Amino acid sequence: MTIPMKIIGLLATLVILAIIPIYSMIEPEQQAQQLESFYTDAVVTSTDIYAENCAVCHGAAGEGIGDTPPLNSEGLRAMSENELIKVISRGRDNTIMAAWAVEEGGILSAAQIGDMVIFIQQANWEYVDARVNELGMTPPEVIEMEVSEEMLASLASLDGGDTLSLGLTTYAENCAACHGSNGAGTMIAPALDSANLRATPRDEILATVNNGVNGTLMASWQNILAPEEINATVELIYRWDEVLNSGIEFPEVEVMSISSTPEMIADGYDLFHIACKSCHGVDGYGSPMAPALNNQLFLEQTPDAAIYQIIAGGVSGTLMPAWGSRLSDYDLQSLVAYLRSLEATAPAILPPISEN
Ligand code: HEC
Ligand code: HEC
Ligand code: HEC
Repeated sequence: MTIPMKIIGLLATLVILAIIPIYSMIEPEQQAQQLESFYTDAVVTSTDIYAENCAVCHGAAGEGIGDTPPLNSEGLRAMSENELIKVISRGRDNTIMAAWAVEEGGILSAAQIGDMVIFIQQANWEYVDARVNELGMTPPEVIEMEVSEEMLASLASLDGGDTLSLGLTTYAENCAACHGSNGAGTMIAPALDSANLRATPRDEILATVNNGVNGTLMASWQNILAPEEINATVELIYRWDEVLNSGIEFPEVEVMSISSTPEMIADGYDLFHIACKSCHGVDGYGSPMAPALNNQLFLEQTPDAAIYQIIAGGVSGTLMPAWGSRLSDYDLQSLVAYLRSLEATAPAILPPISEN
């Protein structure tokens, strides 16, 4: 084995000797060309990274989706390189914009993030759009979940109606996926329409909502919602029975047993590949950003309806976004069907050492 090593070493030396003089002879014009092709390479590679990791929230053409800002804007092109590196590396606290740098628990190297910044500043978004499409990564249509005007109008007629309206809007957007559409509770979170809770001092309930309950899905809301939104939601909690007895109709989140067909599993697989793979890994095996879902323990212990709720509601205070506002009921069901289809072959994975 020593002879080939020597040959390789010798070859390497020859190659270096050959390159140095040539390199130093390159004309400035050629150097400029090389620099240009370096930029082009960075943009091409970054386009694919963008398609796989960012398009699902920022849109196929960087146009932004729902509350997620566009990246194709003048404002962003004017943002300094350092600022862009910082936001992509570290993410933004208390939003679903994750930290992508490897040192921050993400999956992108410093070099990849540097390229991504060049890409954002120089991208031809029509080309990006076409490439995202070609890779099959175009995000599905956004569906907004809304509280109806009629409900708000009926609420307004009650005493303190404005506060109740704000409370209900806040509740529907942030709490209903776990606590149920009418405060009745679900498989994963307790009822909030309860005599016990109404007998609990306001300070205690406020503290629960503000601080969350460590080690459970109940996150801290104080940095996500405004104080008046939290106060209004707590006011609603005290008046649930009154509001329910006023005859206002609340939308039901259907608790269905989720059917599964080969078509749904295939659709769920495709959607997982678009929306979830960047964090949960290829085939759900997990990544530094998020736990494995292709995981016997998780699939055994979590019923379909609970998986549905977690995907729809997200896990607040973590990187897990709420998908209920951007995916249709069918999309969510197909994701559940796909994840469930993994159970038969899922590896046994130990639970994380500590949740908090
Ligand atoms: C899960 C959804 C999601 C994903 C995936 C995502 N982002 Fe974001 N991104 C957001 C949100 C939401 C914000 C706005 C955060 C805030 O409110 O400040 C944001 C903000 C940004 C900003 C700052 C925009 C501004 O106007 O201040 C940049 C730059 C950015 N993201 C780049 C990326 C890149 C690059 C990727 C892929 C590596 C990516 N994002 C992936 C949701 C996402
Ligand atoms: C991701 C699921 C989830 C979301 C979203 C969520 N919660 Fe919770 N919540 C829980 C769980 C789980 C508990 C039970 C925690 C425990 O075991 O003590 C809980 C407990 C509570 C309690 C205490 C109930 C009691 O009987 O002691 C209140 C109050 C509460 N949540 C209010 C809210 C409000 C208000 C929102 C929206 C701003 C919200 N929650 C959003 C999961 C959630
Ligand atoms: C930006 C990263 C990110 C994306 C994208 C993402 N997730 Fe998550 N997800 C997480 C994190 C982080 C957790 C763990 C949250 C926690 O600490 O409880 C999680 C948790 C979950 C859980 C609960 C797992 C458990 O063990 O309790 C499910 C189910 C889930 N995600 C499904 C999905 C699906 C389906 C998609 C695509 C539609 C998706 N996630 C996209 C980051 C992400």
